[in-house]
Amino acid sequence: MPWRGLVAELSLSEQIDAQIRAAGPISLATYMGLCLSHPRHGYYAAGRPIGAKGDFITAPEISQMFGELVGFFVVNLWQQMGSPLSFTLLELGPGRGTLMADALRAASKADGFENALHLQLFESNANLKAEQEKRLGKHHPYWAPEIDIVSDDPLFVVANEFFDALPVRQFVRAADGWHERLVGLRDGQRAFGLSPTPIANDAVPEELRGAQPGEVLELATAATDAMQRLARKVAVQGGAILAIDYGYARTQTGETLQAVRNHAFADPLAAPGQTDLSAHVNFAVLGETARATGLAVAPLATQGEFLLRLGIGERAKALARANPNEAANIARAVERLTAPEQMGTLFKVLCAHSPGLKPAGF
Ligand SMILES: C[S@@+](CC[C@H](N)C(=O)[O-])C[C@H]1O[C@@H](n2cnc3c(N)ncnc32)[C@H](O)[C@@H]1O
Repeated sequence: MPWRGLVAELSLSEQIDAQIRAAGPISLATYMGLCLSHPRHGYYAAGRPIGAKGDFITAPEISQMFGELVGFFVVNLWQQMGSPLSFTLLELGPGRGTLMADALRAASKADGFENALHLQLFESNANLKAEQEKRLGKHHPYWAPEIDIVSDDPLFVVANEFFDALPVRQFVRAADGWHERLVGLRDGQRAFGLSPTPIANDAVPEELRGAQPGEVLELATAATDAMQRLARKVAVQGGAILAIDYGYARTQTGETLQAVRNHAFADPLAAPGQTDLSAHVNFAVLGETARATGLAVAPLATQGEFLLRLGIGERAKALARANPNEAANIARAVERLTAPEQMGTLFKVLCAHSPGLKPAGF
C-alpha cells in the first residue's frame, strides 16, 4: 500500500478542531494540555523554547549565579539533615540543564555531596532531554517517567518555572454561579465560550464565593496534584521542595493565562502547539497542599529576597573580581533577577520542607 505514507498527519490545530466538531467544546485545561503536551505536536514535546532564539529566557539562563545559589541552598539542607550518604535531587522541567549544572558545580565542593547524590530529572521534551544529557551526563541522571517515581532516600525537589506550565481550568462568575470557560468553534474559528451549567458552589474556594459577576477564577488542578504527590514522598522520606515561579501569594480572582511566542505576547487560540501557554501559580494552594501532607512551609519569599538573602550580592562581587571585563553584565544580571520592577517581585519562592529543617533564604 505505497500511498499510505502519503496520507498527511493532521496538524494539532486540525486535530483539536475535529475533536470539538465531534464531541463539543473542550475545557481550557484540556486545550492547554493538548497544546503543551500532545506527544507529537505539543509545545513541550518538541521544539527549543528557551533562549534568545526560542520564545523566552529563564532565570538560570540569565546568570550562573541563580543555579549556584540553588546549589548552596540544597547543600545547606542536606548538611542540616546530617549529610545522608544517599539522597535524591529531582528537578522538574530542567529546561536546558543550566540551573542544575550550575547548582551541582557549586554544591559538589561540599565534602561527600557528589558521592551521595542520585540525580533525577522529569522532562517531556526530547530536545531538552538531549541538552540535559550534554550538561548533566557526568552526574548520571535518571529521567523519571512519572513525577513521583523516586527511591526511598531523602528527597530534594527543585522546580523553576515548571508549575506555571501545567494546565489550568478557568471559571467566570455570572449571576447564577461560576461557569467553566471552554474552547469551541464559532464560524469555523476557535473561540472562547462558557459552559451553560454552573459548577457547584462548594467547588469554589471559600474566600471567593462572594465574587462579582465577570470575575475569573483559575484552578490549577495539575499543579496541585503534582505538589501533593511529591509532598507525600518528602513527608515520609525527609527533605524539601523548592518551587520558583511567577505567581500570587493569596487565592484571588483574575485571569493570568498568557501566550508567548518569539518573546512577545500572542493569541492563545491562534497556533496550538507553537505558542507557550502558561498561567500564574497560586502559591497559597501549593503551600496548603504541602502542609496537608505534614510538611512545614516557609513564609513565601520573593525571588529578589531569596537571592539577596542567599548572598547574590557577594557572589556577584567575587565573579566581577575574577572577570573584570564582565562586571557590567554581572551587575545587569543581578538587577534583572532581583529588582522589583524586573523578576524580583513577580517571581516568588516556595519551600515546603520536613519540620525541623531551616531553609536558607526565607
Ligand atoms: C518554562 S520551562 C523552564 C525550564 C527550566 N526550569 C529553566 O528555568 O530554564 C518548563 C520546563 O518544564 C518542562 N515541562 C513542561 N511541561 C511538562 C510536563 N507536563 N512534563 C514534564 N516536563 C514538562 C519543559 O519541557 C521545560 O523543560
